[in-house]
Formats: sequence, structure tokens, C-alpha cells
Amino acid sequence: MNKTEVIQIPVGPMRNFDYLLVDGESREALAVDSGWETGPVVDAARRGDLKVKYVVATHGHFDHVETLRDLARLLGAQVVAHESSELEADLRVADGAVLNLGNTRVRVIHTPGHTPDSICLYDGHEVFTGDTLFIGNCGRTDLPGGSAQQLFHSLRDILLKLPPGTVVYPGHDYGDVPCRSIAEEARRNPALLARNVEEFMGVE
Ligand SMILES: [Fe+2]
Repeated sequence: MNKTEVIQIPVGPMRNFDYLLVDGESREALAVDSGWETGPVVDAARRGDLKVKYVVATHGHFDHVETLRDLARLLGAQVVAHESSELEADLRVADGAVLNLGNTRVRVIHTPGHTPDSICLYDGHEVFTGDTLFIGNCGRTDLPGGSAQQLFHSLRDILLKLPPGTVVYPGHDYGDVPCRSIAEEARRNPALLARNVEEFMGVE
């Protein structure tokens, strides 16, 4: 089994998490989001001697993407965003697209609801969920393009179908822990416990 490493990087005043996902053998990596500042991510990439190939936007909200192009330029990486995104991207991806880091395959999962362009990234062990799913909560749906029905579907029919041991790495540090397995979240996260969209809208 190919080993991966996750570097979780708190940035900015809104408790955002940026990430570096590293293929342990090749040291190829991708960055997840870049809000507020590039320094901590660039420093972590240099410390780890990483070859960062992609800087991926989980969605277009400013607190996640404000410095995306700067970060990509500093790291010599390509900006990646969903095909419906309004961001300027080098690589536009659809659901099911695969980003390769050495022998690690990272799959793009389209999870609309918080925004139409929201994506998650899944490498077989961990899932980076942006503002689709937080620890103990989920993203809001009252901003432009948001849809409670779509988010309910994305959580219940897509993310909850991932293997139980998959570790959820959210786009904000809103939980009592910084990450947790999808099985644990399924047991205690009210947004995942909702049985129908009406219940979901009540807890969201
Ligand atoms: Fe957002």
C-alpha cells in the first residue's frame, strides 16, 4: 500500500485549514486551498522537500482561494478547479478525474451544495472536504448558489459511501478535533444523522 502524509496548516482569521497531501515515496504533493497567506504552505513544502504539482481549490469562496495563483506560482504548480468554477485554472476537472502523485491516485469528487463548484479529494485513505463537511457540522447553503437538497445528497449519497475508516480533513477548524473518521462523524454529526432533507434543513 502506498503511504501518504497529510500536513494540516491553519491559516488566517477564519480558522481555515490548508493542506499538503504528500506521496511518501516520490515526495510529489498537492496543496488543498490557499486562503489568506502563502507563507506557511510554502515553508512546509520547502521543509519537506516536496514537489508540489497541483494547487487545488475545494470551491471558489475567497477565504479558500484568495492567494491560489500566488501559491501555484511560488511552488511551480498548476491551479486546479472544478469545471463549473469561475476561478482562473490551469486544469479544470470533472467528477471522477484523477490527479496522480507518484503512485498515489487522488480522485476528484463533485459535491455541490455549499457551492455549485465544491469538490472533495479522495486518495483511498483520507478525504479533503472543503466547506462541504466539517467535523461536527456541514457547510452553509444560504450563500449564492447554495442548495440544501444538493448538500444533503452530497453528504448522504456520496461522502457517507466512502469506506468507514476514511479520515475527514475539513476546510475549517470548527470541530472539537481537527480531523476524524467518516464512521465517527456518521455517528455524531447532526448533518449526517438527518434522515431526510427536511430534518437536514432543521440542523444545518
Ligand atoms: Fe465556503
